[in-house]
Amino acid sequence: MLQRQIQTLTTMISYHTPAMLKETLDGLLVENEGVFVDVTYGGGGHTAAMLDRLSENSKVLAFDQDPDAERNLIDDDRLLFVNQNFQYLKQFLKLYKLIPVDGILADLGVSFHQFDQAERGFSFRFEGPLDMRMDKKRSLTAARVLNEYDLADLTHLLRNYGELRNASKVAYAIVGFREEQTFETIAHLKAAVAKFSPQHKQHKFFAQLFQAIRIEVNEEMKVLELFLEQAAEVLKPGGRLAIITYHSLEDRLVKNFIRSGNTKGEVEKDFYGNLIRPLEPLTSKPIQPEQKEIEVNNRARSAKLRLAEKSISNEQ
Ligand SMILES: C[S@@+](CC[C@H](N)C(=O)[O-])C[C@H]1O[C@@H](n2cnc3c(N)ncnc32)[C@H](O)[C@@H]1O
Repeated sequence: MLQRQIQTLTTMISYHTPAMLKETLDGLLVENEGVFVDVTYGGGGHTAAMLDRLSENSKVLAFDQDPDAERNLIDDDRLLFVNQNFQYLKQFLKLYKLIPVDGILADLGVSFHQFDQAERGFSFRFEGPLDMRMDKKRSLTAARVLNEYDLADLTHLLRNYGELRNASKVAYAIVGFREEQTFETIAHLKAAVAKFSPQHKQHKFFAQLFQAIRIEVNEEMKVLELFLEQAAEVLKPGGRLAIITYHSLEDRLVKNFIRSGNTKGEVEKDFYGNLIRPLEPLTSKPIQPEQKEIEVNNRARSAKLRLAEKSISNEQ
């Protein structure tokens, strides 16, 4: 038993280092008992810390669309793992009769494990296939996006998801490249866009380019929106939502939803001028990692944590 626990712990640590662990749990767990959801299990670091703080009678439902995450499964009767996209949050909570819940955590994006495996194609630091799927059952890969999307769609995703200033020129170069050769590997993509990557800002350019394609492949903005709407519905009044994002597009969407109840940030008021929104923000600004955390986990540097509470007056 102890040996198995040590083995799980070792796998978890090498899989991912959780960001802002204390800040997240302090914000999420008002009580040490209840039903909680971790929709991005990954290495299970946040879930493990949650289980440590929670009582015997509590329950944690964990989601991860990547079956690799299941390798880190903690041996604990209170934990239930679902190898699914969190866009199905409400459906599974209903299935397990767990609505309403006390708290929900989402630590968005990819894990270190996914990022560091060349064959997953998430990182421009390696040579590998143009895949980028978190869920390998999906049919859309990065290669398909690059080989099949038309110029307008490529420009749109590079501009909107990568915030690339020269999106249309980069898209044009991608279309030109595939007239000669099919996109299969990261080297192909790098060759296609080489002339657009500024010498001193190569890292930033490729990070933006890869982010754009990854968001498209995994429909990250769409599923985040679906998730937020369901999270607001299934939380009990006073229940908490904690979301960690790693880029401004996600953070903007989360911020808008928490502040106004929709991802566009359109504010609605009742007859008396009170805001009509399902959640109340708990902090006006996102919480960011302290310098000492960044020193030991540099990848946490872009993390932003937003906390919200289900409004009491919006009981459903
Ligand atoms: C940043 S990691 C989470 C790390 C985790 N908090 C930990 O402590 O190890 C994000 C994880 O969420 C998963 N993920 C991302 N989007 C998802 C989605 N829409 N549905 C389910 N899982 C998702 C990824 O596969 C990845 O394993």
